[in-house]
Amino acid sequence: MPTSGIRPLVAGNWKMNGLRRSMDTIEALSTRANEEGVLEALDMLVCPPATLISLAVKTVDTTPIHIGAQSCHPAESGAHTGDVAPEMLRDVGASYVITGHSERRADHGETDADVNAQSVGAWRAGLCAIVCVGETREEREAGRAVDVVVGQLAGSVPDGATAENTVIAYEPVWAIGTGLTPTVEDIAQIHAAIRQSVADRFGAEGEAMRLLYGGSVKPGNAAEVLSPAHVDGALVGGASLSASDFMGIATAVKGLVDA
Ligand code: PGA
Repeated sequence: MPTSGIRPLVAGNWKMNGLRRSMDTIEALSTRANEEGVLEALDMLVCPPATLISLAVKTVDTTPIHIGAQSCHPAESGAHTGDVAPEMLRDVGASYVITGHSERRADHGETDADVNAQSVGAWRAGLCAIVCVGETREEREAGRAVDVVVGQLAGSVPDGATAENTVIAYEPVWAIGTGLTPTVEDIAQIHAAIRQSVADRFGAEGEAMRLLYGGSVKPGNAAEVLSPAHVDGALVGGASLSASDFMGIATAVKGLVDA
């Protein structure tokens, strides 16, 4: 349930999926977002692979759907083969970048300190950082979910975070791509803890920061899993690859705002 006064964000993470022909999906999203009026109620963002950012920015054209990236290097430039600087993402029209996604933490060994540095780099380039946190199944079963998430926040979110330059995404690792979701009580508990943590640290900026839930959000479960307090939208993986599924989730969030 988006917090009163906070404009929700429905963000899609395409991961390592998409070729130029996938612009069909962006075109369909633009058309439907305009027709269905969802952008009056919320922000939509698509994070395609880096190869498609420039094309996606051109494809959304005048529709105010934001385009973002899935990761960035902390530095502006330099001898870092294969990496992409935040300034490069900004240069091709990205406005957001995901930092600390659990797949980056797992596949590339990214630590809280790395995520922190990437987020600082994102801000330097004028990008909003979507900082991801979330516990593993073992951590949840050990009763440590809140502690893990609050610890990741402390390490991953840099000093100076504001409601404008930072979004937090709670994504339990065991719910990503599995079809499993936490109970609404569990989501409510974690989101309350995240709100408390960012409000304690950043004051009014933390109160106004957008907190997203991510992990197996689909059109059929969105109204339920996004219903707890302090859930200001969603970070969507698999379902963001289909324009109609992604629109279904955006429509569900609009329904929560209108309710
Ligand atoms: P999923 O992915 O929606 O496919 O579970 C979410 C994410 O990893 O951001």
